Amino acid sequence: VIFESSNQASIIVAQEIARLIRKKQLQGLPCVLGLATGSSPIRVYEELVRMHKEESLSFSNVITFNLDEYLPMEKNNRQSYWYFMHEHLFNHVDIAPENINIPDGTLIGDDIIPYCLNYEQKIKDYGGLDFQLLGIGRTGHIGFNEPGSHYNSGTRVITLDHITRVDAAPSFLGIDNVPRRAITMGISTVQNARRIVLLGWGQNKADIIKKTVEGDISSEVPATYLQRHHNCTFVLDNGAGSKL
Ligand code: GLP
Repeated sequence: VIFESSNQASIIVAQEIARLIRKKQLQGLPCVLGLATGSSPIRVYEELVRMHKEESLSFSNVITFNLDEYLPMEKNNRQSYWYFMHEHLFNHVDIAPENINIPDGTLIGDDIIPYCLNYEQKIKDYGGLDFQLLGIGRTGHIGFNEPGSHYNSGTRVITLDHITRVDAAPSFLGIDNVPRRAITMGISTVQNARRIVLLGWGQNKADIIKKTVEGDISSEVPATYLQRHHNCTFVLDNGAGSKL
């Protein structure tokens, strides 16, 4: 779906998430959301916060699982996805801290693999993701599933692509400060969500959006795997959709 503006599009996406949260609330069920970081979802989170404050949207039944986190990364570091999520969403709504799951970037050595397996299992224990919000990187990554990621991949450690590190460099004040690795949910983790919405804004996403939507399914552009999902929508603005 191509919108005139990312603002208008973000509001529509936030409304879909709010409807889902409210529906689950009425059913007395938890609402399990897979969440993304980056600039793309910021306006969606802003709108959800507004709905919490002005339209009594409650997050009391919401369980969140974030896609990824840099490795190594301290929670309180301004570049951490932990910090991002608290700044843009969690600090402003009534979600219980124990319902927030963000991959832990402070882990080292042998602790990491069991942690990733447990992250995966925890999502399953909640009955899977009801909704997964995604952005897309210039390499075609979703989460941090870089080119080469396998269709069956689960939550794991990944080595970041050079292009991804170049794109992250400004916020880290130089590429040398960008971590080389990350923990990311896998392609299968994402694909198992019952609903997926990918956000793409601006002309600089036009090429990768075209490859993702119209290209062959390939591990070289991991987002192309989404073509196989039965309930996935790409929500774009005119810029990102301009080459389709
Ligand atoms: C990072 C994140 C991705 C995100 C991508 C695009 O690499 N790990 O989840 O989709 O950036 O970011 P932006 O939305 O700022 O373009």
